[in-house]
Amino acid sequence: MSNECNGTEPNSEDEQINESYNKNPTFRICCIGAGYVGGPTCAIIASKCPHIQVTVVDVSVDRIAAWNSDNLPLFEPGLDEMVKSIRNRNLFFSTDVKKAIQEADLIFISVNTPTKSYGFGNGRAPDLRYVEEAARQIAQIATSNKIVVEKSTVPVKAAESIKTILKTNKQPGVSYQVLSNPEFLAEGSAIHDLLAPDRVLIGGDETIDGSLAIKKLSWIYEHWVPKEKILTTNTWSSELSKLVANAFLAQRISSINTISAVCEATGASVSEVAKAVGLDSRIGNKFLNASIGFGGSCFQKDVYNLIYLAESLKLEPVAQYWLQVIKINDWQRERFAQMIVQNLFGSVSGKKITVFGFAFKKDTADTRESSSIYVCQYLLAEGASLLIYDPKVPEQRIFLDLCEQTGKTEAELSEHVQIVHSAYEAAKDSHALVICTEWDEFKQLDYQLIYSTMKKPSFIFDGRLILDHDHLMSIGFNVFCIGKKPPVNQYFNQSPR
Ligand code: UDX
Ligand code: ADP
Repeated sequence: MSNECNGTEPNSEDEQINESYNKNPTFRICCIGAGYVGGPTCAIIASKCPHIQVTVVDVSVDRIAAWNSDNLPLFEPGLDEMVKSIRNRNLFFSTDVKKAIQEADLIFISVNTPTKSYGFGNGRAPDLRYVEEAARQIAQIATSNKIVVEKSTVPVKAAESIKTILKTNKQPGVSYQVLSNPEFLAEGSAIHDLLAPDRVLIGGDETIDGSLAIKKLSWIYEHWVPKEKILTTNTWSSELSKLVANAFLAQRISSINTISAVCEATGASVSEVAKAVGLDSRIGNKFLNASIGFGGSCFQKDVYNLIYLAESLKLEPVAQYWLQVIKINDWQRERFAQMIVQNLFGSVSGKKITVFGFAFKKDTADTRESSSIYVCQYLLAEGASLLIYDPKVPEQRIFLDLCEQTGKTEAELSEHVQIVHSAYEAAKDSHALVICTEWDEFKQLDYQLIYSTMKKPSFIFDGRLILDHDHLMSIGFNVFCIGKKPPVNQYFNQSPR
């Protein structure tokens, strides 16, 4: 179902599709999974299609209760107002999975697809048990025809598996169309990404029924997305495109991070190099910010997904190529932690280190695969005491992540980790500030004041290149950052002010 085919003259197939489509232009939507993808996506659909009833269901009673409360389960700029304006009008959050499936014409599967942590493909293969469970539930419950849309990031051919499960478990007389409609939203800009997507990708069967299902889903998006931005492909292309898009983005970050190491060793500046390179319109300037490594729930998982696919297809050089993207990311995290230890006179044991930012990037409270977790782990292993401040991540989340990463209990960690609720408080009496997340708030702090409360010599390690380093050095800080050789006389930079 390529787009080239869409420009052809109307034929009997098109007319047939249009006719049956027009008979039932409205329907109910059920979304299984009220997470980062399901929640915001459905909020936009409901707000742009007031005549469509959208019900988001989840097995987690707490998550649904939060979606129905004043404190939504996730922070996303613009989401609060949007959800509150349409909730219980045509957007509903419920734990009644059965009812929502039964009533829906179209079902999104937006459940979690973590990387397998056991058995074959451990650490690489996607764990599809939640997708499979959702498909089995649909087959067991549905007594009328449904369009089932995989929205979760899945491996290539997952739609095949969903189809097989539905076909072999379905109620008599029920038929299904399975579509792939991957989500490209990024956290922190989800509302913008959903309202003005670069493209909407829909993959489906190259049959009349498949075309009709694609048309129905496309019709929903056409309420606010220009038709030319809705791309239709076969199912496998759609599934693979999602993996490849994330892998390419991750690859760009690893590429610039390798260059950051070269810059530190040579005296070039990674920001200047990124700017010069990004001005080439063939390369473009996005996703060239050197950092302490990419985090988030998607990049690592999807690159591993691609590696696993290549390995399964016996394409070892392809697998090895993409594995380097992950290896460089791991190395960058470790390298940054080493930079801290080395410059604090070779030891952080017993020293207080302030970590600014725990989320995997700014404007989200999500910490999944956050590079902060790894940097903290390395510093803790070196005997540092950490004071962690993040504007959005709850204290409990930070402890959960660190417990999981270090294998220690919260009680054990509490001896060396303190979660602090203001940046100024966190910096007091500390030897060094470590910027792990690029929150805007960190750019606006009074570093003169912070400097006056810290131990001397005072250090800043900018893992996100967001601060004014000349200004910090003029205050008296010793400044080290990713992608720039530090001035040679840093340790003499201790003039109290
Ligand atoms: C990503 C994709 O962007 C999105 O299209 C997909 O649907 C889901 O995965 P997300 O994980 O929310 O979105 O965040 P993104 O903005 O892509 O950032 C991922 C990580 O890369 C973050 O840790 C971020 O700090 C880091 N990053 C990003 C860099 O280190 N440098 C950059 O230049 C850009
Ligand atoms: P994503 O980032 O892809 O949206 P999340 O982990 O944030 O993933 O959300 C996925 C949600 O799907 C979780 O809240 C989980 O409880 C829910 N979920 C998983 N399986 C099912 C299921 N069979 N029925 C209903 N909800 C499910």
